Amino acid sequence: MLVRITKSDTETQNLAREFASTLHAGDVLLLSGDLGAGKTTFVRGLAEGLGIDPGDVSSPTFTLLHEYRGGRLTLYHADLYRLDKTATDDLGLEETGVRDGVLAIEWPDRLSHDLAGARVIRFDVVEDVSRRITIDPEPPTTNC
Ligand SMILES: Nc1ncnc2c1ncn2[C@@H]1O[C@H](COP(=O)(O)OP(=O)(O)OP(=O)(O)O)[C@@H](O)[C@H]1O
Ligand SMILES: [Mg+2]
Repeated sequence: MLVRITKSDTETQNLAREFASTLHAGDVLLLSGDLGAGKTTFVRGLAEGLGIDPGDVSSPTFTLLHEYRGGRLTLYHADLYRLDKTATDDLGLEETGVRDGVLAIEWPDRLSHDLAGARVIRFDVVEDVSRRITIDPEPPTTNC
């Protein structure tokens, strides 16, 4: 378990940028935390770390799943905030996660069932500009 306090959005982005170097194809990240806790900011850092322009990353509004190519791994970014549990079934996130890239999901509590091998990253607002970010350890690899 890795726990870090960041004191600005830049620090959160930098943490994610470093973390991105440890990611493998097929990794699924569940970004959990309140509105404004820093989930999308973290995804910008993931993009940067994978060699994708972080400016391309926006909060998905009408598009539920964004796909950013051109980096070391493709980055898939889902925001399930507006969905309910039945609607998330139709997104095909299982299939997305096991492909060539990394799948980062905001508001994963909207998922109707667990995604295999997913790793939770928790964002807690400590105060104004400080956030506690807790990254689950990498799950053991399964050979099946
Ligand atoms: N330490 C910090 N890390 C990240 N963001 C911070 C930090 N301190 C302040 N902020 C601010 O908090 C906001 C985080 O916004 P962001 O879009 O990343 O949140 P989010 O968790 O994706 O929210 P939502 O659930 O609405 O999608 C930004 O306005 C950012 O500037
Ligand atoms: Mg967001």
